[in-house]
Amino acid sequence: MIIAIYNIKGGVGKTTTSINLTFTAAKNNKVLLWDLDIQGASSYFFNKNPKKRKIFKKSIEKIIKNTKYPNIDIIPADTSLERYKNSIKTILQDLKSLYDIIIIDAPAVLSPLTKDIVKYSDIVIVPVLPNILSLRTYNQLLKENLNKNIKLFVNGYENKPTHKEIIKCVLKLPKSQYLKTYIPKDEKIEAMPFERMSVVEKYPKSPVSRAYEKLLKEII
Ligand SMILES: Nc1ncnc2c1ncn2[C@@H]1O[C@H](COP(=O)(O)OP(=O)(O)O)[C@@H](O)[C@H]1O
Ligand SMILES: [Mg+2]
Repeated sequence: MIIAIYNIKGGVGKTTTSINLTFTAAKNNKVLLWDLDIQGASSYFFNKNPKKRKIFKKSIEKIIKNTKYPNIDIIPADTSLERYKNSIKTILQDLKSLYDIIIIDAPAVLSPLTKDIVKYSDIVIVPVLPNILSLRTYNQLLKENLNKNIKLFVNGYENKPTHKEIIKCVLKLPKSQYLKTYIPKDEKIEAMPFERMSVVEKYPKSPVSRAYEKLLKEII
């Protein structure tokens, strides 16, 4: 199954979600995390630097890197993706035969590459921060009509009136457009890059880790 984490907005939690869902899924599945963002935040997390790997010229198996976690492999960020023109469909099909779950950390742009990713993923998960403008960008993405299975979820929820209002707005959307689970705002998440450790690993029983488990269950 291919799960793309995508939003045309930056700083909404795409990388955070990709990493924590990867660790959650890896408890029972062979997982590949593909860092498609040339900024390479997910790659940094696994100690891999963005490089020019000429991703479409080599066989894809040569691009995949192991991590210290037996169930997690990664395709690090690749600056040659900037000049993308091929179709990514066959690559994704090949990868699907190697892994139970493929999680794609997509960049915050609407480009030929991200359009293809959205088109050929089984599900597209869109983190939105609990405010009206974030909901608006989700609607802009829907208008592109790239995939029928694009679902938003609220990230960074705090128990306060404005955020509660946003949840009410979300619950009024058609059921096919959202995931019920929301991820709370949690300082432990902000500390992740310092230690290069996901909250799911470090605090497996915390409410935020449980929220990621629930989110994944809703997805698969
Ligand atoms: N649920 C959350 N609680 C607290 N901080 C969060 C949460 N989600 C994301 N963040 C923080 O917000 C910032 C942006 O998140 P990031 O995952 O890098 O976004 P993106 O990949 O969409 O640009 C990071 O500093 C991250 O630690
Ligand atoms: Mg990111």
